[in-house]
Amino acid sequence: MRAYKIYNEQNAILGRLEEIDEASVGSGDVLIKSHYSSVNYKDALAATGTGGRVMSRYPLIAGIDVSGVVISSTDNRFKTGEEVLCTGYGLGVSHDGGFSSLCRVPGDWLVDLPHGLTLYEAMSLGTAGFTAGLAVELLELNGMRPDQGPVLVNGATGGVSSLLINMLGQLGYIVTALTSKIEQADYLKSLGAADILDRNTIEYKSRSLEKPLWSTAFDSVGADQLSWLTKTMHTQGLIASFGNAGGIELTTNVLPFILRGIRLIGIDSVNTPMQLRQRIWQRLATDLKPKYLSKIAYPIEWTELPFHFDRLLHGTSRGRAVLDISGN
Ligand SMILES: NC(=O)c1ccc[n+]([C@@H]2O[C@H](COP(=O)([O-])OP(=O)(O)OC[C@H]3O[C@@H](n4cnc5c(N)ncnc54)[C@H](OP(=O)(O)O)[C@@H]3O)[C@@H](O)[C@H]2O)c1
Repeated sequence: MRAYKIYNEQNAILGRLEEIDEASVGSGDVLIKSHYSSVNYKDALAATGTGGRVMSRYPLIAGIDVSGVVISSTDNRFKTGEEVLCTGYGLGVSHDGGFSSLCRVPGDWLVDLPHGLTLYEAMSLGTAGFTAGLAVELLELNGMRPDQGPVLVNGATGGVSSLLINMLGQLGYIVTALTSKIEQADYLKSLGAADILDRNTIEYKSRSLEKPLWSTAFDSVGADQLSWLTKTMHTQGLIASFGNAGGIELTTNVLPFILRGIRLIGIDSVNTPMQLRQRIWQRLATDLKPKYLSKIAYPIEWTELPFHFDRLLHGTSRGRAVLDISGN
Protein backbone atom coordinates (compact mmCIF):
# COMPACT_ATOMS: atom_id res chain seq x y z
CA MET A 1 0.00 0.00 0.00
CA ARG A 2 1.45 3.30 -1.11
CA ALA A 3 0.80 7.02 -0.93
CA TYR A 4 2.35 10.15 -2.42
CA LYS A 5 2.92 12.34 0.63
CA ILE A 6 3.90 16.00 0.66
CA TYR A 7 6.32 17.36 3.27
CA ASN A 8 7.33 20.88 4.21
CA GLU A 9 11.01 20.66 5.09
CA GLN A 10 12.36 24.06 6.09
CA ASN A 11 9.98 25.77 3.64
CA ALA A 12 10.86 23.43 0.76
CA ILE A 13 7.77 21.50 -0.42
CA LEU A 14 8.74 17.93 -1.33
CA GLY A 15 6.72 14.91 -2.43
CA ARG A 16 7.65 11.30 -1.65
CA LEU A 17 6.17 7.94 -2.51
CA GLU A 18 6.03 5.89 0.68
CA GLU A 19 4.54 2.79 2.28
CA ILE A 20 1.37 3.35 4.32
CA ASP A 21 -0.98 1.32 6.49
CA GLU A 22 -4.62 1.69 7.49
CA ALA A 23 -3.81 3.57 10.69
CA SER A 24 -1.90 6.28 8.83
CA VAL A 25 -4.60 7.66 6.51
CA GLY A 26 -7.03 10.51 7.20
CA SER A 27 -10.12 10.53 9.37
CA GLY A 28 -13.75 9.84 8.53
CA ASP A 29 -16.54 7.29 8.51
CA VAL A 30 -15.67 5.43 5.32
CA LEU A 31 -12.48 3.57 4.39
CA ILE A 32 -11.96 3.10 0.64
CA LYS A 33 -9.63 0.93 -1.39
CA SER A 34 -8.59 3.45 -4.00
CA HIS A 35 -8.51 2.34 -7.62
CA TYR A 36 -7.85 5.61 -9.50
CA SER A 37 -7.09 9.26 -8.92
CA SER A 38 -6.15 11.93 -11.45
CA VAL A 39 -3.63 14.70 -11.87
CA ASN A 40 -5.22 18.14 -11.84
CA TYR A 41 -3.55 21.56 -12.09
CA LYS A 42 -4.29 22.07 -8.39
CA ASP A 43 -2.44 18.82 -7.57
CA ALA A 44 0.62 20.15 -9.37
CA LEU A 45 0.47 23.38 -7.35
CA ALA A 46 -0.11 21.50 -4.08
CA ALA A 47 2.56 18.86 -4.58
CA THR A 48 5.27 21.35 -5.56
CA GLY A 49 4.28 24.34 -3.40
CA THR A 50 4.11 26.51 -6.53
CA GLY A 51 2.21 29.81 -6.45
CA GLY A 52 1.56 29.87 -2.71
CA ARG A 53 0.44 27.09 -0.44
CA VAL A 54 -2.53 25.02 -1.58
CA MET A 55 -2.20 22.57 1.31
CA SER A 56 -3.17 23.86 4.73
CA ARG A 57 -1.01 21.39 6.66
CA TYR A 58 1.95 19.03 6.25
CA PRO A 59 2.70 16.24 5.89
CA LEU A 60 -0.37 15.41 3.82
CA ILE A 61 -1.18 12.84 1.13
CA ALA A 62 -1.83 14.66 -2.17
CA GLY A 63 -4.64 14.05 -4.67
CA ILE A 64 -7.86 16.08 -4.91
CA ASP A 65 -9.99 13.23 -6.27
CA VAL A 66 -10.36 9.46 -6.02
CA SER A 67 -12.55 6.55 -7.06
CA GLY A 68 -12.62 3.17 -5.38
CA VAL A 69 -14.49 0.53 -3.39
CA VAL A 70 -15.72 0.78 0.20
CA ILE A 71 -13.76 -1.50 2.56
CA SER A 72 -15.58 -0.54 5.77
CA SER A 73 -18.06 2.12 6.83
CA THR A 74 -19.77 3.39 9.95
CA ASP A 75 -22.00 5.59 7.76
CA ASN A 76 -25.06 3.49 6.89
CA ARG A 77 -25.43 5.16 3.48
CA PHE A 78 -22.31 3.29 2.28
CA LYS A 79 -21.85 -0.48 2.38
CA THR A 80 -18.76 -2.64 1.98
CA GLY A 81 -18.12 -3.40 -1.69
CA GLU A 82 -19.90 -0.31 -3.07
CA GLU A 83 -18.16 1.74 -5.75
CA VAL A 84 -17.79 5.42 -4.83
CA LEU A 85 -15.99 8.59 -5.82
CA CYS A 86 -14.91 11.77 -4.10
CA THR A 87 -13.81 15.18 -5.42
CA GLY A 88 -13.27 18.50 -3.68
CA TYR A 89 -14.01 19.39 -0.05
CA GLY A 90 -10.71 19.07 1.84
CA LEU A 91 -9.40 16.08 -0.12
CA GLY A 92 -5.68 16.53 -0.84
CA VAL A 93 -5.77 20.04 0.61
CA SER A 94 -6.54 19.82 4.35
CA HIS A 95 -7.31 16.08 4.50
CA ASP A 96 -5.25 13.10 3.26
CA GLY A 97 -5.98 12.81 -0.45
CA GLY A 98 -6.49 10.38 -3.29
CA PHE A 99 -2.88 9.55 -4.26
CA SER A 100 -3.09 6.66 -1.82
CA SER A 101 -3.95 2.96 -1.85
CA LEU A 102 -6.32 3.65 1.06
CA CYS A 103 -8.49 6.68 1.62
CA ARG A 104 -10.57 7.49 4.69
CA VAL A 105 -13.16 10.26 4.23
CA PRO A 106 -16.38 11.55 5.79
CA GLY A 107 -19.42 9.88 4.22
CA ASP A 108 -20.80 13.38 3.53
CA TRP A 109 -18.10 13.81 0.85
CA LEU A 110 -18.88 10.60 -1.08
CA VAL A 111 -20.92 10.10 -4.23
CA ASP A 112 -22.09 6.66 -5.39
CA LEU A 113 -20.49 5.77 -8.70
CA PRO A 114 -23.30 6.48 -11.18
CA HIS A 115 -24.51 3.74 -13.51
CA GLY A 116 -22.84 4.28 -16.86
CA LEU A 117 -19.37 5.06 -15.51
CA THR A 118 -16.54 2.71 -14.54
CA LEU A 119 -14.12 3.63 -11.75
CA TYR A 120 -11.54 4.43 -14.44
CA GLU A 121 -13.95 6.67 -16.37
CA ALA A 122 -14.94 8.43 -13.15
CA MET A 123 -11.33 9.58 -12.68
CA SER A 124 -10.81 10.19 -16.40
CA LEU A 125 -13.41 12.85 -15.67
CA GLY A 126 -12.39 13.51 -12.04
CA THR A 127 -12.34 17.05 -10.69
CA ALA A 128 -11.85 18.38 -14.23
CA GLY A 129 -14.93 16.64 -15.61
CA PHE A 130 -16.99 17.60 -12.60
CA THR A 131 -15.96 21.24 -13.06
CA ALA A 132 -16.78 21.11 -16.77
CA GLY A 133 -20.18 19.56 -16.06
CA LEU A 134 -20.92 22.09 -13.33
CA ALA A 135 -20.02 24.97 -15.66
CA VAL A 136 -22.34 23.64 -18.38
CA GLU A 137 -25.18 23.16 -15.86
CA LEU A 138 -24.81 26.64 -14.32
CA LEU A 139 -24.64 28.35 -17.72
CA GLU A 140 -27.69 26.41 -18.91
CA LEU A 141 -29.52 27.68 -15.81
CA ASN A 142 -28.55 31.18 -16.99
CA GLY A 143 -30.06 30.57 -20.42
CA MET A 144 -27.19 29.10 -22.49
CA ARG A 145 -28.50 27.35 -25.61
CA PRO A 146 -26.79 25.99 -28.74
CA ASP A 147 -28.62 28.39 -31.09
CA GLN A 148 -27.24 31.57 -29.48
CA GLY A 149 -23.94 31.71 -31.39
CA PRO A 150 -20.27 30.88 -31.08
CA VAL A 151 -18.83 29.51 -27.85
CA LEU A 152 -15.19 30.02 -26.84
CA VAL A 153 -13.20 27.59 -24.67
CA ASN A 154 -9.67 28.71 -23.75
CA GLY A 155 -6.74 26.70 -22.37
CA ALA A 156 -8.22 24.29 -24.87
CA THR A 157 -5.78 21.37 -24.59
CA GLY A 158 -6.08 21.36 -20.78
CA GLY A 159 -7.99 18.78 -18.76
CA VAL A 160 -11.17 20.74 -18.01
CA SER A 161 -11.24 22.38 -21.43
CA SER A 162 -10.67 19.22 -23.50
CA LEU A 163 -13.65 17.68 -21.69
CA LEU A 164 -15.72 20.84 -22.15
CA ILE A 165 -15.04 20.91 -25.90
CA ASN A 166 -16.22 17.32 -26.22
CA MET A 167 -19.31 17.88 -24.03
CA LEU A 168 -20.34 21.12 -25.76
CA GLY A 169 -19.71 19.71 -29.25
CA GLN A 170 -21.97 16.75 -28.62
CA LEU A 171 -24.67 19.03 -27.18
CA GLY A 172 -24.71 20.91 -30.51
CA TYR A 173 -22.68 24.04 -29.65
CA ILE A 174 -20.33 25.60 -32.23
CA VAL A 175 -17.07 25.73 -30.27
CA THR A 176 -13.93 27.76 -30.96
CA ALA A 177 -10.91 26.33 -29.11
CA LEU A 178 -8.36 28.96 -28.01
CA THR A 179 -4.94 27.40 -27.51
CA SER A 180 -1.21 28.08 -27.35
CA LYS A 181 -0.61 24.69 -29.01
CA ILE A 182 -1.67 25.22 -32.60
CA GLU A 183 -0.01 21.88 -33.44
CA GLN A 184 -2.85 20.25 -31.44
CA ALA A 185 -5.51 21.58 -33.84
CA ASP A 186 -6.34 18.09 -35.15
CA TYR A 187 -6.76 16.76 -31.58
CA LEU A 188 -9.08 19.66 -30.68
CA LYS A 189 -11.13 19.25 -33.86
CA SER A 190 -11.41 15.51 -33.23
CA LEU A 191 -13.00 16.34 -29.84
CA GLY A 192 -15.62 18.57 -31.46
CA ALA A 193 -14.08 22.04 -31.90
CA ALA A 194 -15.34 23.76 -35.06
CA ASP A 195 -12.56 26.39 -35.12
CA ILE A 196 -9.13 26.87 -33.60
CA LEU A 197 -7.82 30.24 -32.41
CA ASP A 198 -4.08 30.69 -31.83
CA ARG A 199 -3.39 32.42 -28.50
CA ASN A 200 -0.49 34.31 -30.10
CA THR A 201 -2.82 36.10 -32.52
CA ILE A 202 -4.93 37.80 -29.85
CA GLU A 203 -4.38 41.53 -29.51
CA TYR A 204 -5.10 42.83 -26.04
CA LYS A 205 -6.28 46.39 -26.67
CA SER A 206 -7.04 49.04 -24.09
CA ARG A 207 -10.55 49.80 -25.44
CA SER A 208 -13.46 49.39 -23.02
CA LEU A 209 -15.46 47.35 -25.53
CA GLU A 210 -14.32 45.44 -28.60
CA LYS A 211 -16.07 43.80 -31.54
CA PRO A 212 -18.49 41.22 -30.11
CA LEU A 213 -17.41 37.67 -31.00
CA TRP A 214 -18.79 35.15 -28.49
CA SER A 215 -22.20 34.34 -27.04
CA THR A 216 -20.66 32.14 -24.34
CA ALA A 217 -17.14 31.59 -23.01
CA PHE A 218 -15.53 29.09 -20.65
CA ASP A 219 -12.39 30.53 -19.07
CA SER A 220 -9.67 28.35 -17.55
CA VAL A 221 -6.94 30.99 -17.85
CA GLY A 222 -7.96 34.25 -16.10
CA ALA A 223 -5.84 37.45 -16.32
CA ASP A 224 -5.46 38.97 -19.85
CA GLN A 225 -7.61 36.36 -21.58
CA LEU A 226 -10.53 36.79 -19.18
CA SER A 227 -10.24 40.57 -19.46
CA TRP A 228 -10.33 40.27 -23.27
CA LEU A 229 -13.32 37.95 -23.06
CA THR A 230 -15.38 40.41 -21.01
CA LYS A 231 -14.91 42.95 -23.81
CA THR A 232 -15.64 40.61 -26.73
CA MET A 233 -18.93 39.07 -25.61
CA HIS A 234 -22.18 39.55 -27.49
CA THR A 235 -25.09 41.27 -25.73
CA GLN A 236 -26.32 39.06 -22.84
CA GLY A 237 -23.13 36.98 -23.18
CA LEU A 238 -22.27 34.44 -20.50
CA ILE A 239 -18.77 33.71 -19.17
CA ALA A 240 -17.96 30.81 -16.83
CA SER A 241 -14.82 31.63 -14.84
CA PHE A 242 -13.25 28.53 -13.32
CA GLY A 243 -9.48 28.77 -13.77
CA ASN A 244 -6.31 30.74 -13.25
CA ALA A 245 -3.75 28.92 -15.40
CA GLY A 246 -2.59 32.32 -16.73
CA GLY A 247 -2.92 34.34 -13.52
CA ILE A 248 -5.42 35.52 -10.92
CA GLU A 249 -5.75 39.16 -11.98
CA LEU A 250 -8.79 40.51 -13.78
CA THR A 251 -8.66 44.02 -15.23
CA THR A 252 -11.77 45.16 -17.01
CA ASN A 253 -14.40 47.90 -16.81
CA VAL A 254 -18.12 48.11 -16.23
CA LEU A 255 -19.23 48.84 -19.83
CA PRO A 256 -19.50 45.16 -20.89
CA PHE A 257 -21.80 44.66 -17.90
CA ILE A 258 -23.98 47.77 -18.19
CA LEU A 259 -24.07 48.22 -21.99
CA ARG A 260 -24.04 44.57 -23.11
CA GLY A 261 -25.51 42.93 -20.02
CA ILE A 262 -22.84 40.24 -19.91
CA ARG A 263 -22.78 37.90 -16.93
CA LEU A 264 -19.63 36.52 -15.31
CA ILE A 265 -20.43 33.31 -13.46
CA GLY A 266 -18.00 31.79 -10.97
CA ILE A 267 -17.57 28.01 -10.87
CA ASP A 268 -16.46 26.40 -7.59
CA SER A 269 -16.22 22.63 -7.76
CA VAL A 270 -14.91 22.25 -4.20
CA ASN A 271 -17.93 23.35 -2.18
CA THR A 272 -20.76 22.31 -4.51
CA PRO A 273 -23.76 21.20 -2.40
CA MET A 274 -24.31 17.41 -2.43
CA GLN A 275 -27.66 17.45 -4.26
CA LEU A 276 -26.21 19.43 -7.17
CA ARG A 277 -23.01 17.34 -7.02
CA GLN A 278 -25.03 14.13 -7.45
CA ARG A 279 -27.01 15.65 -10.31
CA ILE A 280 -23.81 16.66 -12.14
CA TRP A 281 -22.37 13.14 -11.74
CA GLN A 282 -25.61 11.66 -13.11
CA ARG A 283 -25.27 13.95 -16.13
CA LEU A 284 -21.58 13.03 -16.53
CA ALA A 285 -22.69 9.42 -16.84
CA THR A 286 -25.43 10.23 -19.37
CA ASP A 287 -25.94 13.29 -21.59
CA LEU A 288 -22.64 14.96 -20.67
CA LYS A 289 -20.51 11.81 -20.85
CA PRO A 290 -17.77 12.71 -23.35
CA LYS A 291 -17.83 10.44 -26.35
CA TYR A 292 -14.05 10.78 -26.73
CA LEU A 293 -13.12 10.33 -23.05
CA SER A 294 -10.60 7.62 -23.93
CA LYS A 295 -8.88 10.02 -26.34
CA ILE A 296 -8.61 12.71 -23.64
CA ALA A 297 -7.53 10.56 -20.67
CA TYR A 298 -4.67 8.07 -20.31
CA PRO A 299 -3.40 5.95 -17.39
CA ILE A 300 -0.13 6.68 -15.59
CA GLU A 301 1.87 4.95 -12.85
CA TRP A 302 2.98 6.30 -9.46
CA THR A 303 6.51 7.09 -10.58
CA GLU A 304 5.22 9.34 -13.38
CA LEU A 305 3.52 11.81 -11.01
CA PRO A 306 6.38 14.40 -10.80
CA PHE A 307 6.70 14.42 -14.61
CA HIS A 308 2.99 15.24 -14.94
CA PHE A 309 3.12 17.96 -12.25
CA ASP A 310 5.90 19.56 -14.26
CA ARG A 311 3.95 19.42 -17.53
CA LEU A 312 0.86 20.99 -15.94
CA LEU A 313 2.88 23.80 -14.36
CA HIS A 314 4.59 24.55 -17.68
CA GLY A 315 1.35 24.41 -19.71
CA THR A 316 2.73 21.61 -21.88
CA SER A 317 0.33 18.81 -21.00
CA ARG A 318 -2.69 17.64 -22.96
CA GLY A 319 -5.88 16.07 -21.63
CA ARG A 320 -5.99 14.10 -18.40
CA ALA A 321 -3.52 11.80 -16.64
CA VAL A 322 -5.27 9.11 -14.56
CA LEU A 323 -3.25 7.56 -11.73
CA ASP A 324 -3.70 3.78 -11.74
CA ILE A 325 -3.43 3.10 -8.02
CA SER A 326 -4.21 -0.58 -7.78
CA GLY A 327 -2.46 -1.60 -11.00
CA ASN A 328 -5.70 -2.54 -12.79
N1 LIG B 1 -12.96 26.42 -10.10
C1 LIG B 1 -12.76 25.13 -9.86
O1 LIG B 1 -13.43 24.49 -9.04
C2 LIG B 1 -11.69 24.43 -10.65
C3 LIG B 1 -11.72 23.04 -10.83
C4 LIG B 1 -10.75 22.45 -11.67
C5 LIG B 1 -9.77 23.24 -12.25
N2 LIG B 1 -9.76 24.57 -11.98
C6 LIG B 1 -8.76 25.44 -12.60
O2 LIG B 1 -8.97 25.42 -14.01
C7 LIG B 1 -7.73 25.59 -14.68
C8 LIG B 1 -7.54 24.44 -15.65
O3 LIG B 1 -7.35 23.24 -14.90
P1 LIG B 1 -6.83 21.92 -15.63
O4 LIG B 1 -6.71 20.87 -14.59
O5 LIG B 1 -7.64 21.71 -16.85
O6 LIG B 1 -5.35 22.42 -16.02
P2 LIG B 1 -4.48 22.11 -17.31
O7 LIG B 1 -4.75 20.74 -17.78
O8 LIG B 1 -3.09 22.51 -16.95
O9 LIG B 1 -5.04 23.13 -18.41
C9 LIG B 1 -4.72 24.48 -18.43
C10 LIG B 1 -4.50 24.93 -19.86
O10 LIG B 1 -4.40 26.35 -19.87
C11 LIG B 1 -3.46 26.78 -20.84
N3 LIG B 1 -2.39 27.51 -20.14
C12 LIG B 1 -1.46 27.02 -19.30
N4 LIG B 1 -0.65 27.99 -18.85
C13 LIG B 1 -1.09 29.13 -19.41
C14 LIG B 1 -0.68 30.49 -19.35
N5 LIG B 1 0.36 30.87 -18.59
N6 LIG B 1 -1.38 31.41 -20.04
C15 LIG B 1 -2.43 31.04 -20.78
N7 LIG B 1 -2.86 29.75 -20.91
C16 LIG B 1 -2.21 28.82 -20.22
C17 LIG B 1 -2.93 25.52 -21.52
O11 LIG B 1 -3.77 25.25 -22.66
P3 LIG B 1 -3.37 25.68 -24.15
O12 LIG B 1 -1.90 25.41 -24.31
O13 LIG B 1 -4.22 24.79 -25.01
O14 LIG B 1 -3.69 27.13 -24.32
C18 LIG B 1 -3.19 24.45 -20.48
O15 LIG B 1 -3.28 23.17 -21.05
C19 LIG B 1 -6.66 25.68 -13.60
O16 LIG B 1 -6.41 27.03 -13.32
C20 LIG B 1 -7.32 25.00 -12.41
O17 LIG B 1 -6.79 25.43 -11.19
C21 LIG B 1 -10.68 25.16 -11.20
